[in-house]
Amino acid sequence: MTFLDLPIDPVFSFRTVPLKFGVGVLSEIGYDLSTLNVRKGLIVTDKQLVEKTKVVEQAKAYIEERSIEVEVWDNVEPEPSEGSIKNGIEYAKERGHGFIVGLGGGSALDTAKIINLYTSFPADFYDYFSPPIGRGVKIPGPLKPLIAIPTTSGTGSETTGVAIVTFQDKKVKFGLSSKYLMPTLALLDPQVTLSMPPSVTANTGMDALMHAIEAYTAIPYGIRPKPKSLEARPVYQGSNPISDVLAERAIEVIGENLLSAYSNGNNLEARANMHLAASIAGLAFGNAGVHIPHALSYPIGGEA
Ligand SMILES: [Fe+2]
Repeated sequence: MTFLDLPIDPVFSFRTVPLKFGVGVLSEIGYDLSTLNVRKGLIVTDKQLVEKTKVVEQAKAYIEERSIEVEVWDNVEPEPSEGSIKNGIEYAKERGHGFIVGLGGGSALDTAKIINLYTSFPADFYDYFSPPIGRGVKIPGPLKPLIAIPTTSGTGSETTGVAIVTFQDKKVKFGLSSKYLMPTLALLDPQVTLSMPPSVTANTGMDALMHAIEAYTAIPYGIRPKPKSLEARPVYQGSNPISDVLAERAIEVIGENLLSAYSNGNNLEARANMHLAASIAGLAFGNAGVHIPHALSYPIGGEA
């Protein structure tokens, strides 16, 4: 028997999303889409962002500047339910979008990912979810390009292949995870986070902190059971030397900046540090995984 025959998995892989970070980087979205050879797409966002900020209007203008057509669907719900996501799929399904932009908090990004999935590979809504919620059907391949633009600094959805849905009738939140759900590009513009109220700054900041702590304390790769096949290797593979470095740094930066971002929302430096730290924590947990605190949050969140 060789080492590789042992019933543990001695391998980890580390997947990343290409990131662009910096004040004003939102203005580059038209250019980035032009490099993807797309002509028409959809911005998935929420009404609050449309009505209370100029971010959606600006993103749309930057896209249209490059002669790319774009529509806006702004019916994202907080903690998106199965029903609200199905509405988005229904809206988008025959409109011939060649790309999706997720613009908003984690709910908008997760909704955008799932709309992209079901419009790229139409199926019954329960097909791609794992049992016990769904049927565990494999996603056939890469989806349409998706650009993620987070306006909160917390969920890390812009850097992961995870999307969370609330199944209200089952009173549970359930995650869909696949490498194909990872955005094509994440645009991290601290300026779009300035309008976040203190309570959202605090809640999303604590979410980011927990991502880093859970990634760092996850059962390490190398002592996990070997999957039955290479295809069955989970997205979450345990803490590893790369996620450890990222998680440590994210914990440090969040510790130094969360209070400042909370007490003075216009502190662009603190906002910028938090924004990058949330994505760094996302990269850490998107590969290492989260554990007990997030697992507990799913049934509790489903009840809320
Ligand atoms: Fe989270």
